[in-house]
Amino acid sequence: MPALHATQRTEGWLSPDALERIAAHLRVPKSEVWAVASHYPEFRLAQPGRRIVRVCTGVSCRARGGRDLVAACERALGIAAGLTTADGAVTLEEMDCAFACSVAPVVEVDHAYRGRVAPGDIDSLLSAPAHAGHREVASATIAPVGSRAPVSGSPAQRLAALAGDAGARSTGARLIVGVGACSLAVGADQTLAALRAEVARRGLPFAAVAAGCNGMCWAAPAVTVARDGQSPRVMGPVTAAAVPRLLDALAANALDDAAGREFMAPQHRVLLERCGLTDPGDIADALRRGAYAAFAQALTDGSPERVIEEVRAAGLAGRGGAYFQTAVKWAGCRAARGTPKFIVVNAEEGEPGIFKDRHLMEGDPHRLLEAMLLAAFAAGASRGILYIHGEAELSAQRVATALAQARAHGLVGDRILGSDFSLEVEIRRGAGGFVLGEETALLESIEGRRAMPRPRPPFPVEAGLFGKPTVINNVETLAAVPSIVARGGAWFASLGGGRGTKLFGLSGHLKRPGVVEMELGCTLRTLIDTVGGGSSTGRPIRAAVVGGPSGSIVHPRQFDEPLIPRGPVNPGTGGVVTLDDQTSVRDAVRTLLAFNTRESCGKCTPCREGTARLLTMLDGPVDGAGVKALSEVIQVASLCGLGQAAPFAVLSGLAEFPDEFGVS
Ligand SMILES: Cc1cc2nc3c(=O)[nH]c(=O)nc-3n(C[C@H](O)[C@H](O)[C@H](O)COP(=O)(O)O)c2cc1C
Ligand code: SF4
Ligand code: FES
Repeated sequence: MPALHATQRTEGWLSPDALERIAAHLRVPKSEVWAVASHYPEFRLAQPGRRIVRVCTGVSCRARGGRDLVAACERALGIAAGLTTADGAVTLEEMDCAFACSVAPVVEVDHAYRGRVAPGDIDSLLSAPAHAGHREVASATIAPVGSRAPVSGSPAQRLAALAGDAGARSTGARLIVGVGACSLAVGADQTLAALRAEVARRGLPFAAVAAGCNGMCWAAPAVTVARDGQSPRVMGPVTAAAVPRLLDALAANALDDAAGREFMAPQHRVLLERCGLTDPGDIADALRRGAYAAFAQALTDGSPERVIEEVRAAGLAGRGGAYFQTAVKWAGCRAARGTPKFIVVNAEEGEPGIFKDRHLMEGDPHRLLEAMLLAAFAAGASRGILYIHGEAELSAQRVATALAQARAHGLVGDRILGSDFSLEVEIRRGAGGFVLGEETALLESIEGRRAMPRPRPPFPVEAGLFGKPTVINNVETLAAVPSIVARGGAWFASLGGGRGTKLFGLSGHLKRPGVVEMELGCTLRTLIDTVGGGSSTGRPIRAAVVGGPSGSIVHPRQFDEPLIPRGPVNPGTGGVVTLDDQTSVRDAVRTLLAFNTRESCGKCTPCREGTARLLTMLDGPVDGAGVKALSEVIQVASLCGLGQAAPFAVLSGLAEFPDEFGVS
């Protein structure tokens, strides 16, 4: 996979000649290289045009006009989606999700996302000069924060010395622009540049800096006014042109941040506490705000078992969607025989409609690294792999910078902070495909094969990566761990009725789409009306898609049910896409099922053939009993969660909106 990635990056695609060269270089059969390259959707085996334009037609983007954008592009380029212009200038494609659903509809031009695009914007988008791809504007200093490397004392003392060097002192008054994938898609970099220029021109006593986003995608580009001893105030959207107006309002003490406060008030932000405030490219900023302190204390205490016990007491359960008890995995790996043991961070996040793991990585990468260190320490792992989605470029950049900084400060590598604990960490990248996020498919991929799930047992904690004991955890699951270890498992369990907090990605027809952190047990009503501000179209909300293509279609009748795992409304991974009453639920169901059908790895017949058959059954008059019977077969006879959950959207759509399917 790394060889394929490197080649595609330099040559733009994987030619037959390139595949032969890779096979020769790696000394593996050509058939093996071909098998892997042809499996992953992001690898291109046909030469694309010099520019690539991709229009998102996932459920959130469709709801906000994604199909109209496809039509506008087709008209402007004179080709149908899926084709390249005759002169080889432009390839036009549809995509399932750009994972920036909160600024839908999204178009990607030359690997840079543009959000909130209207059909009238297409001509200027297509005629704009080629862009250099994703634009990182946060700082990225790798050099150690202090002059003296701490060489003695306990791990906690050494970390305290580092944090002291980072400066416990005030950071001064700051104007912070939230810069993440979603906000970059709507011009956060331009707002930052305009703000820096205008602050300098006016000689204001503020530093204009970049941080990750605070989840208020609806207000992006957002500017936070942060002064010592005062609550931060968030304003937005602030376009580059609106910067002078913002600064005038600041000078006149007339800032209006009421909408931001309404959005934040119902939230309980634990994992997100530093997102939007800390500079993700600056380890000194993270250290000042307490990063790595829980880990250093755990190393000083020297008891991995205690870390496991706190996580057990917290009731932390897997946020990758299956809600399996995290402590059980860690204890299992610790007890298993075999070395080295691995910790694998599942940052694949390939489920359309959810973008919270990216948000965490972009906003606070040091939290994830600290969490990974704690997990490895607890489970007895000495090797770590961060497996990041192939197109989550900003996440990968920020995690890579944070990793290099952590290494430079002795927080990753050999004998960390002078202890006996060592962890080698590497970053691997995916290349698309929903099933790749399934944990055993992910292991296959790391081992250099097609992403096809393994039968279980054996479970990964006994025989995982390269047959060795392996813990696999989702980014969000891990991100809770530093706070749990610092504040105690009982404290986390006191939130959300023993279940803690959960991130949700809000999109679709909402006034305030974004990323939020709520106590589990909250309701869709709260998420949609109180946090999300209600319908963006003035039309009533007709349904919510909860949990993406593995989730279900929820009727407003169930909007007051608490969102709890295995409850009447399962939060799944936390994707909530709202649809107003002008939107076809049948079209949404078909989009989700078509996605599952394309993404089936083909290993088992009920999933491969069954989902395709189910799709054709949705196209004509619907035989409700037939759909249910086939769905049951797919659910019980599929090997992995993709097939097992694929019919949920269809079954819930049929049950809750029978009139749309013409069944009674
Ligand atoms: C089709 C499919 C896709 C999945 N995609 C992801 C994913 O993108 N990220 C993730 O963390 N878990 C994903 N999972 C769940 C993983 O298999 C696994 O349960 C999870 O990574 C374990 O971590 P956790 O216990 O911290 O949730 C997926 C599962 C299935 C069946
Ligand atoms: S259920 Fe589907 S995706 Fe999962 S292993 Fe079987 S064919 Fe592959
Ligand atoms: S970005 Fe379009 S559906 Fe997610």
